[in-house]
Amino acid sequence: MQTVRFPTRMDAVQAPVIAVIGGIIREVPGTISLGQGVVHYGPPPAALDAVRLALTEPSTHEYQDGAGLPALVSRLATKLSAENGIDAGRGVRIMVTAGANMAFVHAVLAITAPGDEIILNVPFYFNHEMAIQMADCTAVRVATDDRYQPRIDALRAAITDRTRAIVTVTPNNPSGAVFSEESLRAVNALCRDRGIYHIADEVYEYFTYGSARHVSSGSFPGAEGHTIAMYSLSKAYGFAGWRIGYMAYPEHLAPAMAKIQDTILVCPPVVSQIAAIAALEVGRPYCEPHVRELADIRHIVVSQLSALAPKVSVPAADGAFYCLLKVDTTLDPMAIAERLIREHKVAVIPGPAFGMIDGCYFRVAYGALQKETVRDGIGRLVAGLRAIL
Ligand SMILES: Cc1ncc(COP(=O)(O)O)c(C=O)c1O
Repeated sequence: MQTVRFPTRMDAVQAPVIAVIGGIIREVPGTISLGQGVVHYGPPPAALDAVRLALTEPSTHEYQDGAGLPALVSRLATKLSAENGIDAGRGVRIMVTAGANMAFVHAVLAITAPGDEIILNVPFYFNHEMAIQMADCTAVRVATDDRYQPRIDALRAAITDRTRAIVTVTPNNPSGAVFSEESLRAVNALCRDRGIYHIADEVYEYFTYGSARHVSSGSFPGAEGHTIAMYSLSKAYGFAGWRIGYMAYPEHLAPAMAKIQDTILVCPPVVSQIAAIAALEVGRPYCEPHVRELADIRHIVVSQLSALAPKVSVPAADGAFYCLLKVDTTLDPMAIAERLIREHKVAVIPGPAFGMIDGCYFRVAYGALQKETVRDGIGRLVAGLRAIL
């Protein structure tokens, strides 16, 4: 059979690392995965009840408004105003997407032309770099400090006349760092002063521990004209499979966003939006007990890993459900990750996927597991790293 093959823009894009690691895990039954960033709980029962009711409504099965069901958009406006300090009435629009990943792709397409640059703080969320490359743009990597906080001077120095945005992810995937209010204000002001956008991924907004607090970049004075803030129900409401995210973005981008949405999604899945309305009625209290439980799990993770010091260090991570280990070795992180699965039955994600190429790093995700499984998984990781290093 003759195959058709051309070089494409996808050639420069990294393979989705979760799928690569997932492939190895499947070859080693019994592996405990500290790989994928998911939670272990499902949606609020009220969301499922609302879906059951909606199935008999003909409108559930038809195309609906592109930006999202008006009832959902209005519920999100209330939430954004109450919880994020974002006033959707004043120069800010809301769009519902099939997850926050799609919101990011929409944002990149809306604000760039081929060859433009978007600045990512390193470590970054791999799908952000992939999306930027798919839009024929360049992801400019700027290192964070030793606590994974943004370095404002370095961000400022990286801006060129092709720069269109700086991206912040806080609480952070993959480091778990919660960016300080001071640094977020500085990034937002820098973007405003230089006439570029601030893309703020806040999908882990509810996942903070101890005294750490999440601050929304869209709440800063004057942020509405240049801030694109994105959120997700995937984590907070155990909604990953329902694919509901949303963004609050400057009104002047509405025509561009409408073209993108109409072409890629037409409208967000209606049944999922109905579930989302019911979940948002339950609201943040749904996720709070889970966050408290995760705080205990995080404690177990950090204290078990401390046994590996000084070979392995784990900078403070007060948010999301990740930590990013720095391992003192010259061995290849992918080779170690593969050995950890094959020889020790535990999976973590190697640092290069997040732009950490200067040294050996691994992301540990602890959101998907119960306490006992995490204890076992981290036990295997500690034993595995001891044996390998
Ligand atoms: C930082 C960040 N943004 C976006 C997403 C994607 O979320 P969604 O399921 O809403 O597309 C994730 C998922 O892991 C994430 O970690």
